[in-house]
Amino acid sequence: MQRVELAPNIYWVGAVDWDVREFHGYGTPRGSSYNSYLIVDEKVAVVDGVRSGFGPEMVRRVRGCCGQAVDYLIVNHVEPDHSGSLPWLVAELKPGKVVTSKRGKEALEMHYGAEAAAWDYLIVGTGDDLGLGAYTLSFLEAPMLHWPESMFTYVKEPHVLLPNDAFGQHLAGSRRFADENDMNVVMEEAVTYFANILMPFSGQIIKQIQKVVDLGLQIDVIGPSHGMIWRRREDIDAIIEAYLAWSRFEAKPRICLIYDTMWHSTEKMAAAISDGANQEGVETTILRLSSTPLAECVRLVQESRCFLVGSPTLNNGMFPTVGEFLTYLKGLRPKNRLAGAFGSYGWAGGATREIDATLRAMNLEVLPPIDFRFVPTEENLAACEEYGREAARRVKAWA
Ligand code: FEO
Repeated sequence: MQRVELAPNIYWVGAVDWDVREFHGYGTPRGSSYNSYLIVDEKVAVVDGVRSGFGPEMVRRVRGCCGQAVDYLIVNHVEPDHSGSLPWLVAELKPGKVVTSKRGKEALEMHYGAEAAAWDYLIVGTGDDLGLGAYTLSFLEAPMLHWPESMFTYVKEPHVLLPNDAFGQHLAGSRRFADENDMNVVMEEAVTYFANILMPFSGQIIKQIQKVVDLGLQIDVIGPSHGMIWRRREDIDAIIEAYLAWSRFEAKPRICLIYDTMWHSTEKMAAAISDGANQEGVETTILRLSSTPLAECVRLVQESRCFLVGSPTLNNGMFPTVGEFLTYLKGLRPKNRLAGAFGSYGWAGGATREIDATLRAMNLEVLPPIDFRFVPTEENLAACEEYGREAARRVKAWA
């Protein structure tokens, strides 16, 4: 089995999930990986587990890199994509201690019951060190990245940060390092991951990165729990900078129009609004919800200063796909965006009113809604173009 070494005697021993296409509501067309790491020293530590069913693959990798017993099994995060295999791994690897945060222990016991309650724990928190011999591990609690119990493990001397979900991407591949892959794909998956999983925790992310800066931690490798490992100086700097920018909701002066349509009237309005924005020199992206994965729509919200939501009226309300999108987006709590509602209606309206109310409830800056009855006339489409021009002018003036 091929060995993947991040630093001397520190190995990737995870599993690649080529087949996963859904991750708690988020489509993952490029699969994912569950990254675990093995640190071989006088004492041996394994950092994080894998999803249920991938344990045997992980253990084969551990045994391929090291014949010693495992002293510590470190659990940075209890979500089942990392802990699902733990009962099996503990039975197989027989670690001396399971190392986790106080909340991590509680969560393990709530997930795996009496079996987990019987494990021998070492509870750690921010600032605690664990010597392995030549290497020393340091722990840093990282609440809400991605659950309250989450923590980072830092290997001091080779400066390897193992931050679990942070800096990850849902991206399967036969190569483990970001620089061995197409960086455009890696960064696209990194922003998709951030937008769909970490957006609600943006405030905590800024604080966490500041904590790492304040501690003066040198970081030469970042090994996340999903996707590719960051090891080139420029890639590490780029992903940290990107996390700060995404957390601050910085974005291009772009407008994305996210809509659905019943008899093509709302579709015509989307095209006219887009055309108006383009006349002002602002780039647009048009996404029809019935043919675009939600995760991609959310990525575009993350990457655009403005998003406009379009819907025909159905039964006095939003089209179902639009309702699904807004429910999902509301939970992700986007900030610092200009937004607006557009749409068509027949015998009675209602969709744009509902969209407008939802956008306002999200505390975004909201343009007045625009809607027209049945098929938009040339005059209506000219009004849509002006709506697009106005949105574009606001986007360009956005601080
Ligand atoms: Fe990859 Fe929050 O689990």
